[in-house]
Amino acid sequence: MASISETNGFRENGKKPLAGKVALVTGGSRGIGRAIALKLASLGADIAICGRDAAKLSETEAKLRETGARAIAIAADVTRGNDVAQLVRRVESELGPIALLVNNAGMGLFGPVHEKSEEEWDRLMNTNLKSVFLVSRAVVPGMIKRGGGDIINISSLAGKNVFAGGGIYCASKWGVQGLSGCMAEELREHGIRVSTVCPGSVATEFSGRGPKDATKVLKPEDVAHAVAMLATQGDQSFLSTVELRPLRKA
Ligand SMILES: NC(=O)c1ccc[n+]([C@@H]2O[C@H](COP(=O)([O-])OP(=O)(O)OC[C@H]3O[C@@H](n4cnc5c(N)ncnc54)[C@H](OP(=O)(O)O)[C@@H]3O)[C@@H](O)[C@H]2O)c1
Repeated sequence: MASISETNGFRENGKKPLAGKVALVTGGSRGIGRAIALKLASLGADIAICGRDAAKLSETEAKLRETGARAIAIAADVTRGNDVAQLVRRVESELGPIALLVNNAGMGLFGPVHEKSEEEWDRLMNTNLKSVFLVSRAVVPGMIKRGGGDIINISSLAGKNVFAGGGIYCASKWGVQGLSGCMAEELREHGIRVSTVCPGSVATEFSGRGPKDATKVLKPEDVAHAVAMLATQGDQSFLSTVELRPLRKA
């Protein structure tokens, strides 16, 4: 199978590599998720995005439709099991079975662990880790029935490293790494790949640690490029983790 770079986004037969596939990108309304949704749409996928802010969702939905993709934006909170069940049901009834799930929705919250509240712990863990469990759990049975699929979890270099002030965030992303690795082992026999993309700092509105030098951060499109690479690899291949750093050190 030719790589997308060899074919400039198209397979040799002129068909886009993700044509006929349905992708769900959580947190696809802005930031990294939006860039991923637009990239997957440009590769031919039909796209569903979710988030909580309806205005942002419709703005991105309109952009996605401009690419010619079938696209729907659904307001859903991925920390809630009922929202997630309804989200997946709607995507599958309106677009078709989900072949590609990108668990991207997430938040940042930084500072010394001993200064954090129980509410902050719960909010961050539910958003960054429980959501991956909930959405994957809703999508996987269908993928097993169909004998394949891709689940790409947007983790972080903070899921592999430690730093002062990162306690709760790092815990959530180390959790994503562990959950993804175990699910990958459970599901590979079913033809389902579960992988992680671990970016360093990316220029988004991410509730994070203040402004950074723009020359020393990644762009959302860099993460989207890595996701596209995972989504278009050969059927026999399993690229399990991508670590993505800004070229220049901050
Ligand atoms: N930016 C970075 O430096 C960086 C680095 C490494 C990894 N990451 C990871 O990349 C992912 C995306 O981050 P980003 O920088 O693009 O952040 P962002 O710009 O703040 O976007 C976050 C997205 O997630 C959605 N979201 C948040 N909570 C949600 C919930 N409970 N239910 C549904 N959607 C929810 C947001 O929409 P609503 O607010 O409307 O719900 C938004 O679409 C996160 O998992 C983050 O941890 C980011």
